[in-house]
Amino acid sequence: MKTSISLAIASLATVLLSSVTHAAPIEAEAASGQTAVIINETDYCIFLPPKYGGDIAESEDFAVAFCTKPNLPGAPNARVLPDGFIASSHYVVNSSKGYVQITGRIDRSKYGLKANDGGGQYDLRAPVGSKMTGYNAFVQLTEPDDEIFCIRACKNKADCPVNKSTYGCKKVLGGDYS
Ligand SMILES: *[C@@H]1O[C@H](CO)[C@@H](O)[C@H](O)[C@H]1NC(C)=O
Ligand SMILES: *[C@@H]1O[C@H](CO)[C@@H](O)[C@H](O)[C@H]1NC(C)=O
Ligand SMILES: *[C@@H]1O[C@H](CO)[C@@H](O)[C@H](O)[C@H]1NC(C)=O
Repeated sequence: MKTSISLAIASLATVLLSSVTHAAPIEAEAASGQTAVIINETDYCIFLPPKYGGDIAESEDFAVAFCTKPNLPGAPNARVLPDGFIASSHYVVNSSKGYVQITGRIDRSKYGLKANDGGGQYDLRAPVGSKMTGYNAFVQLTEPDDEIFCIRACKNKADCPVNKSTYGCKKVLGGDYS
């Protein structure tokens, strides 16, 4: 008797659970704005905490895409970067490797980022659900303390190293930070 009741409860739970898992993800994805795109040196997106003044590392699971312009194709529901946040940027295309990269300086005050925020790394695993249109991988490091950022979008995952998150932009991606 006991067994058949718990079996009935278990199968009811399974039915309920499966209807929940089938219903939820589509809406969450459409609302998330976690798809970035790098079109060229003026039209691109990076990931930032969803809230003004948010900590880079603490926001790694839910950071969202912010672009240089509204409604960039390939970045649905992305937000627009605060004016002046990108202080300088240097765009590199490596066509033999199949990656593009942007490195440069940020003005952390334009989004309230903290001078003592040592920053962190965003990639396909965090923010959860993030994507880079047209590429198979990306890696971004943002360092509010040094006011620099770097992002690379890669066809080959090996060109977007995600295992050196504490090394910082200059060691992980190199590039121009003037
Ligand atoms: C970037 O691409 C957009 C179209 O997607 C174009 O209007 C703009 O001129 C391009 N900018 C550069 C610097 O190539
Ligand atoms: C592309 O990357 C390869 C390997 O790192 C490098 O040897 C080459 O100089 C790069 N090309 C450009 C245009 O940056
Ligand atoms: C990161 O991974 C690459 C490729 O697998 C490897 O060569 C490198 O030593 C790793 N670096 C660290 C710091 O784990």
